[in-house]
Amino acid sequence: MPGIKIAPSILSADFSRLKDEIQAVESAGADWIHVDVMDGHFVPNITIGPVVVEWVRKVTTIAVDVHLMITDPDKYAPEFIKAGADWLSIHPDTCTDPNTTLRKIRNLGAKASIAVNPDVPLSKVVGCFDNVDMILMMTVFPGFGGQAFIADVLKKITEVRKVIDAGRPGVLIEVDGGIKTDNIAAVVQAGGDVIVSGSGIFKTPSYAETIRQMRQAVA
Ligand code: DX5
Ligand code: ZN
Repeated sequence: MPGIKIAPSILSADFSRLKDEIQAVESAGADWIHVDVMDGHFVPNITIGPVVVEWVRKVTTIAVDVHLMITDPDKYAPEFIKAGADWLSIHPDTCTDPNTTLRKIRNLGAKASIAVNPDVPLSKVVGCFDNVDMILMMTVFPGFGGQAFIADVLKKITEVRKVIDAGRPGVLIEVDGGIKTDNIAAVVQAGGDVIVSGSGIFKTPSYAETIRQMRQAVA
């Protein structure tokens, strides 16, 4: 599908050369930069905060896609948007009322997205679909880069695709976790529009060649 977007996750980048890494994937053909924010509470890992997003924003021209894996997105979403996030994904379990948080994100000028963990049924998030620009389907349990892809989620991606196609034009489906050149075709066939890949890109010798292979696999 020519319309897919590829979003390298900088979690697997070399942080001592973060600017070079971001610019390298941008010149290699990446569409968005995916930024994984973890707080050590919602997930057992700590990564980066708004100050880093501010610098990411300054060194790239493509969209900055921030995936919040933190316990209090209501408190921190404004800071990430101010830092330059174009897209903000939240996990439903982290807020009292996900719809309120999603509306707040949109009112602050960013695009809003709801994340769906591998063990979360669609029935739990479908009530948020009126307030989102994207649905983030997790194909690993959030927390770390480099985990194995959970193929079972493909069925759920197909279901979300049907729901979107039946009446929510323009809402994107992002898929995140364990995606590489050898499984991207299955993800796109199931209905993915935005493909996140961390180790699948940053741990390969040529980002341009890997992204080329990813696009070829889904052509
Ligand atoms: C997992 C993160 C992912 C992860 C993707 O918690 O949300 O974005 O960094 O990395 P890979 O592609 O290596 O699974
Ligand atoms: Zn992510």
